[in-house]
Amino acid sequence: MKTVRFGLVGCGGIGNMHADALALIGGAELTAVCDVDLERARATAAKHAVKHVFASVEEMLKAVKLDAITVASDHKRHFTPAMAAIERGVNVIIEKPITASLEEAYSLLEAAKARSVKLGGVFQRRFFPAAQRMRAAIAAGRIGRITVAECIALLGRDRAYFARDAWRGTWKGEGGGALMNQAIHMIDMLLWMVGEPTEVYGRWAALKHGEYIDVEDSACAVVSFENGALATITATTTLESIEKAPGFRLAVHGAAGYTLGLTESPELTQAINDQWPLDPETTVNEWAAAEGDRPGFPDFHSDQLRDFVVAILQHREPTVTGLAAFRALEVIKGVYLSQTRRRPIALPMSAADRAEADLITSGTR
Ligand SMILES: NC(=O)c1ccc[n+]([C@@H]2O[C@H](COP(=O)([O-])OP(=O)(O)OC[C@H]3O[C@@H](n4cnc5c(N)ncnc54)[C@H](O)[C@@H]3O)[C@@H](O)[C@H]2O)c1
Repeated sequence: MKTVRFGLVGCGGIGNMHADALALIGGAELTAVCDVDLERARATAAKHAVKHVFASVEEMLKAVKLDAITVASDHKRHFTPAMAAIERGVNVIIEKPITASLEEAYSLLEAAKARSVKLGGVFQRRFFPAAQRMRAAIAAGRIGRITVAECIALLGRDRAYFARDAWRGTWKGEGGGALMNQAIHMIDMLLWMVGEPTEVYGRWAALKHGEYIDVEDSACAVVSFENGALATITATTTLESIEKAPGFRLAVHGAAGYTLGLTESPELTQAINDQWPLDPETTVNEWAAAEGDRPGFPDFHSDQLRDFVVAILQHREPTVTGLAAFRALEVIKGVYLSQTRRRPIALPMSAADRAEADLITSGTR
């Protein structure tokens, strides 16, 4: 089997996780790394014995023959490296959110299609066994027609977290807050399990961290789906700490009378199925014992990058497509636009709505 040669863009917190995750994959090799902070790139390269180290993606793409890049820079720096790679015919997988701007994300989708390269988004939580099991059961019709769903991110962040990097907590640097950075994982999971969203109505506020951030630390929304289902989203980063906050939760209810649920508690651990009436309790308890209390990193990034490698080698779409990553972003931008207009936003958004949503979240007005 051919080895897929990866370049890593951004050697910060999660970039190093990508490097660790790639080391766990047979068919992949971390061939080159880049970071505008060259010291960070050198440190990652040293840890993984990578020969090619650069301060920019352009230099990296010019100097080294790569099959794919994985983009792990901060939100507003996803687009330029991704587009540079696509234009060279290099496959691209991008950390969440795919970009901070809908227009940029849309142009990546178009460019990837035109160049026939794979474009994927990172939502590694889809690879939790609890999530795979839940999605498969819903898709097989085991809970009947989906009626309602609850998508919950009850999280804790403190002032030090927002002070860690200049881009955090600002419209200009991050393009959003609790929804854009954290709840996006569960919003992707919601869309993956429930279907195509047709409308979103939401509100956001900065209720705890407002002194030092200008994005939302809390948000609530209602989403309607093409199949008639309805869902609520609740997101907040105002709780005590990562360890003490309840974490992520998704519950999907069906007309056959069943509820399936998963919970990641505390955040950053592997999720388990907290509601599962379809199998005997002993089975569900066995799953929880095997899957709970385990770290959520880097194994699931590894699963996701492995899936991307297989997609490249087998000429199929990755499990998390660029379009899916775009849809999650669109729901979030829909909440921001809905708050400004005080009314629901139709999805998919029109080009005019995309432009307006980008403008109000750009941090430039
Ligand atoms: N999937 C997850 O669970 C998860 C977890 C944490 C972060 N993330 C995402 O990963 C991304 C990075 O987050 P982080 O916490 O690692 O941030 P970070 O600030 O620790 O790291 C970002 C790195 O990118 C570098 N960088 C910026 N612009 C660059 C460019 N043009 N070319 C090369 N390098 C560049 C920075 O110098 C920095 O080293 C964000 O999009 C974030 O939302 C995802």
